[in-house]
Amino acid sequence: MNLTYGGGRVLACWFSATGTTKAVVQQSAAALAEVLGAPLEHFDFTLPQARTAPPELRPGDVAVVGLPVYAGRLPNVLLPYLNTWEGGGAAVLPVVVYGNRNFDDALMELRELLESHHFHTFAAAAFVGEHAFSTTLAAGRPDETDLQEAADFGRQAGLALLRGAASPVDVPGNCPVGPYYQPRDRAGNPIDIRKVKSKVNADCDRCGLCAALCPMGSIDPADVSRYTGICIKCGACIKGCPKHARYYDDPGYLYHKEELELGYPGRAPIWRSL
Ligand SMILES: Cc1cc2nc3c(=O)[nH]c(=O)nc-3n(C[C@H](O)[C@H](O)[C@H](O)COP(=O)(O)O)c2cc1C
Repeated sequence: MNLTYGGGRVLACWFSATGTTKAVVQQSAAALAEVLGAPLEHFDFTLPQARTAPPELRPGDVAVVGLPVYAGRLPNVLLPYLNTWEGGGAAVLPVVVYGNRNFDDALMELRELLESHHFHTFAAAAFVGEHAFSTTLAAGRPDETDLQEAADFGRQAGLALLRGAASPVDVPGNCPVGPYYQPRDRAGNPIDIRKVKSKVNADCDRCGLCAALCPMGSIDPADVSRYTGICIKCGACIKGCPKHARYYDDPGYLYHKEELELGYPGRAPIWRSL
Protein backbone atom coordinates (compact mmCIF):
# COMPACT_ATOMS: atom_id res chain seq x y z
CA MET A 1 0.00 0.00 0.00
CA ASN A 2 0.96 3.64 -0.40
CA LEU A 3 1.04 5.89 2.68
CA THR A 4 0.77 9.65 2.89
CA TYR A 5 0.97 12.04 5.82
CA GLY A 6 -2.43 12.36 7.48
CA GLY A 7 -1.79 15.66 9.32
CA GLY A 8 -1.42 14.26 12.86
CA ARG A 9 1.26 14.35 15.57
CA VAL A 10 4.65 12.71 15.59
CA LEU A 11 4.77 10.44 18.65
CA ALA A 12 8.25 9.36 19.78
CA CYS A 13 7.94 6.09 21.75
CA TRP A 14 10.80 4.26 23.42
CA PHE A 15 11.97 1.76 25.98
CA SER A 16 15.51 2.69 26.95
CA ALA A 17 17.20 1.39 30.10
CA THR A 18 20.56 3.11 29.49
CA GLY A 19 19.38 5.98 27.30
CA THR A 20 20.84 5.09 23.90
CA THR A 21 17.50 4.20 22.27
CA LYS A 22 15.93 7.30 23.74
CA ALA A 23 18.66 9.49 22.21
CA VAL A 24 18.26 8.21 18.63
CA VAL A 25 14.46 8.04 18.75
CA GLN A 26 14.20 11.61 20.02
CA GLN A 27 16.61 12.80 17.33
CA SER A 28 14.80 11.03 14.48
CA ALA A 29 11.36 12.05 15.71
CA ALA A 30 12.32 15.72 16.10
CA ALA A 31 13.64 15.86 12.52
CA LEU A 32 10.58 14.01 11.24
CA ALA A 33 8.22 16.42 13.03
CA GLU A 34 10.10 19.40 11.61
CA VAL A 35 9.83 18.16 8.02
CA LEU A 36 6.14 17.39 8.44
CA GLY A 37 5.39 20.59 10.39
CA ALA A 38 3.79 18.31 13.00
CA PRO A 39 3.55 18.65 16.79
CA LEU A 40 5.96 16.31 18.61
CA GLU A 41 5.00 14.25 21.66
CA HIS A 42 6.91 11.69 23.72
CA PHE A 43 5.87 8.34 25.17
CA ASP A 44 8.59 6.79 27.34
CA PHE A 45 7.61 3.26 28.43
CA THR A 46 10.88 2.36 30.19
CA LEU A 47 9.49 2.30 33.73
CA PRO A 48 6.79 -0.12 34.88
CA GLN A 49 4.37 2.66 35.87
CA ALA A 50 4.42 3.93 32.26
CA ARG A 51 3.42 0.50 30.92
CA THR A 52 -0.07 0.44 32.45
CA ALA A 53 -1.63 1.62 29.17
CA PRO A 54 -0.55 1.71 25.52
CA PRO A 55 0.11 5.00 23.71
CA GLU A 56 -3.00 6.56 22.21
CA LEU A 57 -2.66 6.86 18.46
CA ARG A 58 -5.03 9.06 16.50
CA PRO A 59 -5.76 8.88 12.78
CA GLY A 60 -3.05 10.72 10.84
CA ASP A 61 -0.39 10.30 13.57
CA VAL A 62 3.13 9.13 12.77
CA ALA A 63 4.93 7.10 15.46
CA VAL A 64 8.63 6.41 15.91
CA VAL A 65 8.93 3.25 18.04
CA GLY A 66 12.38 2.41 19.44
CA LEU A 67 13.57 -0.64 21.37
CA PRO A 68 16.98 -2.03 22.28
CA VAL A 69 18.15 -5.37 20.89
CA TYR A 70 18.38 -8.10 23.54
CA ALA A 71 19.80 -11.47 22.42
CA GLY A 72 19.20 -10.58 18.77
CA ARG A 73 15.50 -9.95 19.33
CA LEU A 74 13.17 -7.53 21.11
CA PRO A 75 13.35 -7.69 24.93
CA ASN A 76 10.99 -10.62 25.54
CA VAL A 77 9.71 -9.26 28.87
CA LEU A 78 8.11 -6.40 26.93
CA LEU A 79 6.15 -8.53 24.48
CA PRO A 80 2.98 -8.91 26.59
CA TYR A 81 2.83 -5.12 26.95
CA LEU A 82 3.67 -4.40 23.30
CA ASN A 83 0.94 -6.79 22.27
CA THR A 84 -1.60 -4.44 23.89
CA TRP A 85 -0.71 -1.66 21.42
CA GLU A 86 -3.13 -0.72 18.66
CA GLY A 87 -1.97 1.44 15.74
CA GLY A 88 -5.35 2.19 14.19
CA GLY A 89 -3.68 2.63 10.80
CA ALA A 90 -0.97 5.07 12.02
CA ALA A 91 2.25 5.33 10.02
CA VAL A 92 5.30 4.14 11.99
CA LEU A 93 9.08 4.01 11.90
CA PRO A 94 10.41 0.91 13.70
CA VAL A 95 13.85 1.60 15.23
CA VAL A 96 16.13 -0.78 17.12
CA VAL A 97 19.45 -0.04 18.84
CA TYR A 98 22.13 -2.70 19.20
CA GLY A 99 25.38 -2.88 21.12
CA ASN A 100 27.99 -3.54 18.40
CA ARG A 101 27.40 -7.27 17.93
CA ASN A 102 24.33 -7.61 15.67
CA PHE A 103 20.63 -6.80 15.58
CA ASP A 104 19.84 -10.21 14.03
CA ASP A 105 16.04 -10.48 13.74
CA ALA A 106 15.08 -7.66 16.13
CA LEU A 107 14.08 -5.14 13.46
CA MET A 108 12.08 -7.79 11.61
CA GLU A 109 10.37 -8.74 14.87
CA LEU A 110 9.46 -5.10 15.54
CA ARG A 111 8.16 -4.58 12.00
CA GLU A 112 6.02 -7.71 12.22
CA LEU A 113 4.72 -6.84 15.68
CA LEU A 114 3.73 -3.31 14.63
CA GLU A 115 2.15 -4.42 11.35
CA SER A 116 0.13 -7.07 13.18
CA HIS A 117 -1.22 -4.32 15.47
CA HIS A 118 -2.40 -2.15 12.58
CA PHE A 119 0.56 0.19 12.31
CA HIS A 120 1.89 0.80 8.79
CA THR A 121 5.70 0.72 8.57
CA PHE A 122 7.29 2.83 5.81
CA ALA A 123 10.94 3.27 6.89
CA ALA A 124 13.11 1.56 9.53
CA ALA A 125 16.56 1.71 11.08
CA ALA A 126 18.99 -0.12 13.36
CA PHE A 127 21.31 2.24 15.22
CA VAL A 128 24.23 1.44 17.53
CA GLY A 129 24.47 2.26 21.23
CA GLU A 130 27.06 1.58 23.90
CA HIS A 131 26.49 -1.99 25.06
CA ALA A 132 24.57 -2.24 28.32
CA PHE A 133 27.12 -4.76 29.64
CA SER A 134 30.20 -2.69 28.83
CA THR A 135 31.85 0.72 28.73
CA THR A 136 34.14 -0.19 25.81
CA LEU A 137 31.76 -1.89 23.33
CA ALA A 138 30.46 0.90 21.06
CA ALA A 139 31.72 3.29 23.77
CA GLY A 140 29.94 6.62 23.82
CA ARG A 141 27.54 5.72 21.02
CA PRO A 142 25.28 7.14 19.80
CA ASP A 143 27.90 9.83 19.18
CA GLU A 144 27.63 13.04 17.15
CA THR A 145 27.84 11.14 13.84
CA ASP A 146 25.14 8.68 14.93
CA LEU A 147 22.85 11.49 16.05
CA GLN A 148 23.30 13.27 12.71
CA GLU A 149 22.40 9.99 10.98
CA ALA A 150 19.35 9.64 13.21
CA ALA A 151 18.21 13.16 12.35
CA ASP A 152 18.82 12.56 8.65
CA PHE A 153 16.85 9.33 8.85
CA GLY A 154 13.89 11.21 10.38
CA ARG A 155 14.12 13.93 7.71
CA GLN A 156 14.28 11.44 4.83
CA ALA A 157 11.38 9.48 6.30
CA GLY A 158 9.32 12.68 6.50
CA LEU A 159 10.09 13.59 2.90
CA ALA A 160 9.21 10.05 1.79
CA LEU A 161 5.86 10.28 3.58
CA LEU A 162 5.07 13.63 1.97
CA ARG A 163 5.77 12.11 -1.46
CA GLY A 164 3.85 8.91 -0.68
CA ALA A 165 5.74 5.94 0.77
CA ALA A 166 5.40 2.19 0.23
CA SER A 167 4.35 0.04 3.21
CA PRO A 168 5.40 -2.34 4.70
CA VAL A 169 9.10 -1.44 4.71
CA ASP A 170 11.69 -4.05 3.74
CA VAL A 171 14.06 -4.90 6.62
CA PRO A 172 16.83 -7.49 7.05
CA GLY A 173 16.22 -10.62 9.13
CA ASN A 174 14.32 -13.88 9.11
CA CYS A 175 10.54 -13.94 8.87
CA PRO A 176 9.29 -15.72 10.89
CA VAL A 177 12.00 -14.60 13.30
CA GLY A 178 14.68 -17.04 14.48
CA PRO A 179 15.74 -18.05 18.01
CA TYR A 180 17.28 -15.74 20.62
CA TYR A 181 21.06 -15.35 20.43
CA GLN A 182 22.72 -17.85 22.74
CA PRO A 183 26.04 -16.95 24.39
CA ARG A 184 28.40 -19.92 24.86
CA ASP A 185 31.44 -20.68 26.99
CA ARG A 186 34.86 -21.83 25.74
CA ALA A 187 33.65 -25.42 25.49
CA GLY A 188 30.61 -24.37 23.44
CA ASN A 189 28.15 -24.91 26.29
CA PRO A 190 25.30 -22.38 26.59
CA ILE A 191 25.82 -19.63 29.19
CA ASP A 192 22.59 -19.03 31.09
CA ILE A 193 22.51 -15.59 32.71
CA ARG A 194 18.74 -15.40 33.21
CA LYS A 195 18.93 -15.70 37.00
CA VAL A 196 21.96 -13.41 37.39
CA LYS A 197 21.34 -10.24 39.42
CA SER A 198 23.47 -7.17 40.09
CA LYS A 199 25.03 -6.71 43.51
CA VAL A 200 25.87 -3.69 45.68
CA ASN A 201 29.31 -2.77 47.04
CA ALA A 202 30.38 -0.70 50.05
CA ASP A 203 30.24 2.58 48.07
CA CYS A 204 26.44 2.39 48.03
CA ASP A 205 24.93 5.25 50.08
CA ARG A 206 21.38 3.82 49.81
CA CYS A 207 20.12 6.79 47.77
CA GLY A 208 17.59 4.52 46.08
CA LEU A 209 18.21 5.78 42.54
CA CYS A 210 18.82 2.24 41.25
CA ALA A 211 15.39 1.17 42.50
CA ALA A 212 13.79 4.16 40.79
CA LEU A 213 15.60 3.42 37.51
CA CYS A 214 14.90 -0.34 37.34
CA PRO A 215 12.58 -0.94 34.34
CA MET A 216 11.26 -4.07 36.01
CA GLY A 217 10.64 -2.35 39.37
CA SER A 218 12.61 -5.22 40.86
CA ILE A 219 14.94 -3.48 43.33
CA ASP A 220 13.59 -2.93 46.83
CA PRO A 221 13.91 0.84 47.57
CA ALA A 222 14.08 0.11 51.31
CA ASP A 223 17.01 -2.31 50.82
CA VAL A 224 18.61 -1.90 47.40
CA SER A 225 20.63 -5.09 47.81
CA ARG A 226 17.34 -7.01 47.69
CA TYR A 227 15.49 -7.98 44.52
CA THR A 228 11.71 -8.31 44.55
CA GLY A 229 11.47 -9.40 40.92
CA ILE A 230 13.53 -10.35 37.87
CA CYS A 231 16.75 -8.73 36.65
CA ILE A 232 16.97 -8.38 32.86
CA LYS A 233 20.63 -7.23 32.89
CA CYS A 234 19.54 -3.99 31.15
CA GLY A 235 22.31 -1.92 32.75
CA ALA A 236 20.02 0.82 34.13
CA CYS A 237 21.14 0.38 37.75
CA ILE A 238 24.80 -0.21 36.89
CA LYS A 239 25.21 2.77 34.55
CA GLY A 240 22.81 5.00 36.47
CA CYS A 241 24.52 4.69 39.86
CA PRO A 242 26.47 7.89 40.62
CA LYS A 243 28.69 5.94 43.07
CA HIS A 244 29.39 3.05 40.66
CA ALA A 245 28.24 0.84 43.49
CA ARG A 246 26.41 -1.86 41.51
CA TYR A 247 28.13 -4.70 39.68
CA TYR A 248 27.83 -8.26 38.41
CA ASP A 249 30.20 -10.97 39.59
CA ASP A 250 28.66 -13.99 37.88
CA PRO A 251 31.49 -15.77 35.98
CA GLY A 252 29.25 -16.63 32.99
CA TYR A 253 28.10 -13.02 32.65
CA LEU A 254 31.67 -11.71 32.94
CA TYR A 255 32.95 -14.25 30.41
CA HIS A 256 30.24 -13.26 27.92
CA LYS A 257 30.94 -9.55 28.41
CA GLU A 258 34.66 -10.04 27.78
CA GLU A 259 34.01 -12.26 24.79
CA LEU A 260 31.83 -9.54 23.25
CA GLU A 261 34.44 -6.86 23.98
CA LEU A 262 37.18 -8.91 22.33
CA GLY A 263 35.04 -10.21 19.48
CA TYR A 264 33.39 -6.96 18.34
CA PRO A 265 36.00 -4.21 18.70
CA GLY A 266 35.22 -2.28 15.48
CA ARG A 267 32.64 0.38 14.74
CA ALA A 268 29.42 -1.47 13.96
CA PRO A 269 27.35 0.02 11.12
CA ILE A 270 23.97 1.71 11.18
CA TRP A 271 21.38 0.12 8.94
CA ARG A 272 18.59 2.28 7.56
CA SER A 273 16.07 1.84 4.82
CA LEU A 274 16.33 5.43 3.53
C1 LIG B 1 20.12 -8.53 27.99
C2 LIG B 1 20.80 -7.80 26.86
C3 LIG B 1 21.04 -8.45 25.66
C4 LIG B 1 21.66 -7.77 24.61
N1 LIG B 1 21.83 -8.40 23.40
C5 LIG B 1 22.43 -7.75 22.37
C6 LIG B 1 22.59 -8.39 21.11
O1 LIG B 1 22.13 -9.51 20.86
N2 LIG B 1 23.28 -7.73 20.15
C7 LIG B 1 23.82 -6.51 20.36
O2 LIG B 1 24.50 -6.00 19.48
N3 LIG B 1 23.62 -5.83 21.53
C8 LIG B 1 22.92 -6.43 22.53
N4 LIG B 1 22.71 -5.78 23.72
C9 LIG B 1 23.13 -4.39 23.85
C10 LIG B 1 21.97 -3.39 23.69
O3 LIG B 1 21.26 -3.64 22.51
C11 LIG B 1 22.55 -1.97 23.66
O4 LIG B 1 23.31 -1.76 24.81
C12 LIG B 1 21.50 -0.89 23.55
O5 LIG B 1 22.19 0.28 23.21
C13 LIG B 1 20.75 -0.67 24.85
O6 LIG B 1 19.74 0.29 24.65
P1 LIG B 1 19.28 1.33 25.80
O7 LIG B 1 20.46 2.22 26.08
O8 LIG B 1 18.19 2.09 25.13
O9 LIG B 1 18.83 0.56 26.98
C14 LIG B 1 22.08 -6.43 24.77
C15 LIG B 1 21.84 -5.79 25.99
C16 LIG B 1 21.19 -6.45 27.01
C17 LIG B 1 20.90 -5.71 28.28
